[in-house]
Formats: sequence, C-alpha cells, structure tokens
Amino acid sequence: MGNWRSAVWNDQAARDYSDALDLSDYVQRITPYVAAGKVCHGYQSLLDIGAGDGRFAEALTFPGARIDAIEPSSAMRSMLQRRLKDRTLRVWDVSWSDCPDDGAYDLGFAANIGAFKAAPVQLFTKMRKLCRSLAWVVPAQQGPSSFCLSGLVAHWLPQERSEPVYLSVLGALGAAHAPSSVDVEEWTYRQCFADAGVAVDFLMEKLTASGTTIPRTQIKEFVEEEGTFDDRGRVTLEAPKRSAILRWI
Ligand SMILES: C[S@@+](CC[C@H](N)C(=O)[O-])C[C@H]1O[C@@H](n2cnc3c(N)ncnc32)[C@H](O)[C@@H]1O
Repeated sequence: MGNWRSAVWNDQAARDYSDALDLSDYVQRITPYVAAGKVCHGYQSLLDIGAGDGRFAEALTFPGARIDAIEPSSAMRSMLQRRLKDRTLRVWDVSWSDCPDDGAYDLGFAANIGAFKAAPVQLFTKMRKLCRSLAWVVPAQQGPSSFCLSGLVAHWLPQERSEPVYLSVLGALGAAHAPSSVDVEEWTYRQCFADAGVAVDFLMEKLTASGTTIPRTQIKEFVEEEGTFDDRGRVTLEAPKRSAILRWI
C-alpha cells in the first residue's frame, strides 16, 4: 500500500469525472439497489470510502445526516464539501486502510474504488467492524476498464478482456464474507468534449497508455460516427457500463 497516492487522480481528471457523471445515469440507476428496503434513502449515518464528489452520499442521506468520507483527491474533497454543506460532514485525506476505526455507522458505502481489486478482504473486514450494513458498487463489465470510456473502444483493446471485477471480489471474499444480495445494473457513462479534436486527442492518449497505437485519422472518423454533436461543436461520447451492487444487511 506504500505508494498509493501516485494512483490518485489529479484535479483535472477528478473534475472531468464529476462533469461526466452530471451527464450519466450512474447514481440514478444504482442508488435504488443500495437503499432497497429503506424509505427515501434516509440513512442517518454513513461512512463513504473513496467518496468522490459526494453524489452518492447526497443521494443516500437527508440534510442533517452524519457523513464521514475518506477521499484523498483534493479536487474531489472540495466538490464533496460544497455538495454536502447541509450534512454533518467529516472528511479524511487518507487511504481507506487508514480510515479512523472508532466510528459507528448505519451504512458503510464504497463505489468503484481500487481497493476492490487490491485488498477486498481487508477492506471488508475494516468496514464490517464499523457499519451495521454495507453496500459496495463494483465494476461488472466484461470488457476493458482502464479508463471510463474504454468500453466504447473495446474493439481496439482486445488485450483488456478480463473477468468482471465483482466476480473476483466475490471469489476473494468466499462463503465466509458472502453478501446478502448481489444485483447487476446497466448504466451509461457520458463524457462531453469541447470539440472533436479534443475528443480525438483524449482517446489517442488513453489508447497509447493502454499499449494500442491507432492512426489519428481512424480515431477522428470513429468520433465523427459515434459522437453526438451539439450546435456549438461539442461532442459527447458514451460507453455502456455494468455495476454489481453487493449488500450486507
Ligand atoms: C472512480 S472514483 C469513484 C468515486 C465515487 N465513489 C463514485 O463512484 O463516483 C475513485 C475514488 O477513489 C479515491 N481513491 C483513490 N485511492 C484511494 C485510496 N487509497 N483510499 C480511498 N479512496 C481512494 C479517488 O480519489 C476517487 O475519488
């Protein structure tokens, strides 16, 4: 766990992700599964690990609720503090493994964080001690997952076809820590770019980082075909997503 900070997104990547979630149906699709059986999602106390910009914490609680968030990205922390002004909020700039262990919460929540792959049993053990119930939102798509839009260019990333993360998480947890329920839901990730050139540069950089070199003209044609353009020339690209919602009640 030594060099975990080097994997934390920079401010621009954090803001781009948050802007993309404004256009995506992620929270709307997933929240009803997390809150199943709960009236109006009103958890009184929540521990959110890798809380991002706080949109799940907002959807799962009412004003006045007590929220403790673990979030090591400074841009994410600023966004979540703005979003959750009317909650009783504490935020820690630490890794999940250094989460204070003296709290007690109605719900322990984690969505789409690296610890699912790196150390699922340790994460589970840590959260289970502190929380009456738990919900994890874990990637469930078959295809590539090296960046949020990678499902759109799966044909260029054949080397990234791997087992859905939630299956390896369930395998690692085993029968001893098996969740009470597992649901899988589809949603769509949408990211808007200032123009087609910016979208092409973005895809080219991500594909190169994933070890695939595709000529720029080919990526440009692809963006022109797949993108949705508005009257200011901005282009939105979208990728299909699947998430598994694991709950322990
Ligand atoms: C893909 S984002 C998910 C954010 C939010 N949970 C969501 O689903 O929208 C992953 C988050 O985990 C945070 N993170 C990165 N390393 C972490 C660590 N070691 N411990 C806790 N959170 C971490 C990142 O800063 C980022 O906000």
